[in-house]
Amino acid sequence: MNTRIKMRVPVRSSLEGIEEYKPGKLVKGAIKLSSNENPLGPSPEVIREIVKSLEEGELNLSVYPWERNEEELRDEILSYIGLGTRMKKENIAIGAGVDGVLDTLVKIFIETGNEAIIPVPTFSLYESLVKIAGGKPRYVKREQHFSIPVAGLISACNERMKMIFISSPNNPTGNCISEDEVREIIESVPEVMVVIDEAYVEFADSSLVNLVPEYENVLVLRTFSKAFGLAGLRVGYAVIPEWLEKHYKKVSMPFSVNSIALTAAIAALRDEEHLRRSVELVRQERQFLIENLQRFFRVYPSEANFVLVNVSPAKSYAVYEELIKRGIIVRDCSSFRGAGDSLIRITVGTREQNELVVDALEGKGTG
Ligand SMILES: Cc1ncc(COP(=O)(O)O)c(C=O)c1O
Repeated sequence: MNTRIKMRVPVRSSLEGIEEYKPGKLVKGAIKLSSNENPLGPSPEVIREIVKSLEEGELNLSVYPWERNEEELRDEILSYIGLGTRMKKENIAIGAGVDGVLDTLVKIFIETGNEAIIPVPTFSLYESLVKIAGGKPRYVKREQHFSIPVAGLISACNERMKMIFISSPNNPTGNCISEDEVREIIESVPEVMVVIDEAYVEFADSSLVNLVPEYENVLVLRTFSKAFGLAGLRVGYAVIPEWLEKHYKKVSMPFSVNSIALTAAIAALRDEEHLRRSVELVRQERQFLIENLQRFFRVYPSEANFVLVNVSPAKSYAVYEELIKRGIIVRDCSSFRGAGDSLIRITVGTREQNELVVDALEGKGTG
C-alpha cells in the first residue's frame, strides 16, 4: 500500500536540466531595480478606466473576455505601430505578456529534434521554452560589445533549425542589432523564423517592426510590461506575417489575455503623454546612471531601461549581496548563460533611487 503511494508518474524527459525561471527578488521596503519595470507605474488613466468600466458594468468579471475588446486592442496597436495600410488586424497576435506569446510561438514551430539559435547572453525564457518543446538550443556567443556574429549564426543553421531569437535591445546587455544585419539573417535563411524581441523598444532609437510587411519569416514581439508600466497585468503582442495568424489562433490558449488587462492596455495606448513621460525619464536617468557609474566601473551603452555594469575585479554576486544590505535589489547576471560572474544589471529608476545606487556603489570599483 505504502509503496504505491510513494510512486511518481514519470514526467517528460525534455524537462531534465531545465532551470525554473527566477524572477527579480522582492524584499519588502527595498528599492527594486531588478526587473526592468516602469518607475512611474501605469498611467493614472488606466486605473481610472478600469474602475469606471467595472462600476458601470462595461467590464463584467463573471463573463469571459469579449472578442470586441480584443479587436479594439488590436486596432489600437495597429495605429500605435504606425505602419499604415501595410498592416492589418491579422498581423497582430496578442498574448499574456511576451512570455505568453513566446510560449505559443515555440509550440507552433518546435518539435522534438528541431533546433533554435539563441545568441547569449540573453533572456533565459527562449532557452527554457525550446527545451520544454523537445528542441535543442544552439547558443551563439555574442562578440565584443555584445554584437551578434552574423556570419557564424547563419552558418550554424541546418535543416533542423526552426527559430532564431534576437532580443533588440537585448536583455541584459542593452544593445540593438542593426537593420542591415537582421536583413542579412532573414534573407539568408528564409526557412527559419526570425523572432525579434522588442520588449524594450520604446527606450531605443529605432525599431525593426517595418521588416514584418517585407518578409514571411520575421516577427516582432512587444510588451505592455515595460514602457507602459503594466507588468502585473501580463499583456504582450506580436506583429506577425499574415499567414501565421491561423496557426497562432489554433495554438494559443483561448482568452489568454484577461478582460482587465485588455481594458488597461487600450487605455494605456491612448495616454500618449504618460508614455512620453516614462520614456523621457528613463532616457535622462539612464544617462545619469551611466555617467556616474562609469567613474568606478565599465558601463555598457544601453538602449533599454537598464544598464549593464562590469564590477570586476569584484564578483557580481558579492556586489549584489552588498547592495541588498543597503536596501537596493539589482540583477546579478551570473545566472544568464554566457554572462560570466562580474556583470550586474540595474533598472533605471527615479533620480532619488539612482542617486542611492550611485552612492552605494561609490568606491567599490577600480575605475
Ligand atoms: C527581452 C525580454 N522579453 C520579454 C520579457 C517578458 O515580457 P512580458 O512581461 O511581456 O512577458 C522580458 C522581461 O524581462 C525581457 O527582458
